[in-house]
Amino acid sequence: MARYEINGGRPLEGTVTISGAKNAAVAILPAALLVSGKCRVENVPDISDVRILLDILEGMGVKLAYPEPHVVELDSSEVQCTEPNPELVKKMRASYYLMGALLGRFGHAHVALPGGCNFASRPIDQHIKGFLALGADVDEREDYVALKPTEGGLHGARITLDMASVGATVNIMVAATLLPGQTVIENAAKEPHIVDLANFLNTMGARITGAGTDTVKIRGVNSLRGGSYAIIPDQIEAGTYMAAVTAAGGNVLVQNVIPKHMECITSKLEEMGAKVIVFDDAIRVMRTGALRQTTVKTSPYPGFPTDMQAQVCVCMSLAKGTSRLTESVYETRFFGYCAELESMGANIHINGKTATVVGVEQLYGSTVYAHDLRAGAALVIAGLSAQGTTQVEDIHYVERGYEDLIGKLTALGAQIRRVED
Ligand code: EPU
Repeated sequence: MARYEINGGRPLEGTVTISGAKNAAVAILPAALLVSGKCRVENVPDISDVRILLDILEGMGVKLAYPEPHVVELDSSEVQCTEPNPELVKKMRASYYLMGALLGRFGHAHVALPGGCNFASRPIDQHIKGFLALGADVDEREDYVALKPTEGGLHGARITLDMASVGATVNIMVAATLLPGQTVIENAAKEPHIVDLANFLNTMGARITGAGTDTVKIRGVNSLRGGSYAIIPDQIEAGTYMAAVTAAGGNVLVQNVIPKHMECITSKLEEMGAKVIVFDDAIRVMRTGALRQTTVKTSPYPGFPTDMQAQVCVCMSLAKGTSRLTESVYETRFFGYCAELESMGANIHINGKTATVVGVEQLYGSTVYAHDLRAGAALVIAGLSAQGTTQVEDIHYVERGYEDLIGKLTALGAQIRRVED
C-alpha cells in the first residue's frame, strides 16, 4: 500500500498550475459515446478516476488516441456494447454516467452500480426518476441497473428534481440529447461542470440552453458530429491549493483557474486572514499573519462547495477562536476526517450537521488514514501545516482526483514523498 510522508511546518512558495476539472471530465468522456464522429477532448486531468473511465470506454469498443499529454481523442462510431465491465464500473462513482450515455445512444444499458468515495449514502433515485420520465423501463437490482425503452419509446420530458443533484442533472442531459422532443430539467444543478458538459455537447451539435441556471432545456437532435473541446480548470483542486497556502502559510500563484468559480472559496479564505489577488486566470494567495475564525455552510454552487469542507476545516483548526462548519449536502462527511485531524491535535466537536472547530496553536505529525478523496486532501494539508512528520495512508483515494500532487507540492517547497511499502 502506498502512503504520503510529509515533513510539515514549511510555508509554500511558488506557482502551481491547476489541471482540468475531474467532475467535468468524468461527465464529458462518457458523453462522447453520443458523438458519431471523432471527438477530441483537451485539458483532461491525469488522475485514476479518468484512467479507469477510459479503460471502461476502451473495453466497450471506443477507439482512443492520446496525441499529446492531457488530450484524448475518442471515436465511438463502432461501439455496440451496452454492458460496460462491471468490475471497472464498481471502482468509481461517476461510472453511473454510462447509464445516461448508453440510454441516449442505444436505448439500452446494463450498468453495474458504481463504487467510489462512500462518505455518505449516495442514492440515485433522481437519476432513475429522470430515466423513467424519458420513457425508459428501469430494472434496478441490488448490483446493477438495466434500462430499455417502454412501449411508448424514449422521448423528451419535463422533470423536476427533488434536489439539485449534479449526477442526475448530468445523466438526464446526456440521455436526452439525442431523444425526440424537448426535455426540461427543473431544479437542475448549477455547478461549473454542468455548464462545461452543456458546452461540450453543444460544441458537438446538441441544443442545450440554460445550463448554469436551475432550468436546463435540451432540444433533441438526430446526431452529434465530432469536434474539439477543452475541459475547464478544476475548481476544487484550485481551492485545495488555496486552502493549503492558507493553512501552511506562504505565497503561491495558483494559475489556470476561472476566478469566478472560486469566489465562494476566495471570500472565506480572505475572511480567515489570507490575502488574495485575483488576475484574469490566476489567483495569488498569501498568508503570513494569524488565521481568524469563521463560519462556513456548504451548499450547491454558487455556495461554498461540500468538496472543500474538509480542507477549510484544517484552516479553521489553526485559526484563532471558534469556527462553525455546517454541512448541508452530505451530513456524514465529517466522519471521514475529523477523528484523523483530532489525532493531529485538532479540537473538533460534531453535532449533527455542524462541526464546532476550536482553533489550536499547532497540529502535530501523526499517522492518519484517508477515508475519501477530499478527506485525504485535507489530511495532506494538515500534514503540510503540522510540526513533525505525518504519514497519510490509503492515498489511492487522493489519487482519484489530484493530478501529480507530489510534483506540484514539491515545486512549492513542500517536503512530501510517496512511499510504497
Ligand atoms: N441525492 C439523492 N438522490 C439522487 C441524487 C442525489 O438523494 O438521486 C442527494 C445526495 O445524497 C446528496 C445531494 O442529493 O445529498 C447532492 O448529490 P449530487 O447528486 O449533487 O452529488 P453527486 O452527483 O453524487 C457530485 C460530485 C461530488 C460532489 C457532489 C456535490 C461528481 C462525479 N461528483 O456528486 O464530488 O460532492 O456532486 O457537489 O461530479 C468529489 O469530487 O470529491 C465528489 C464527491
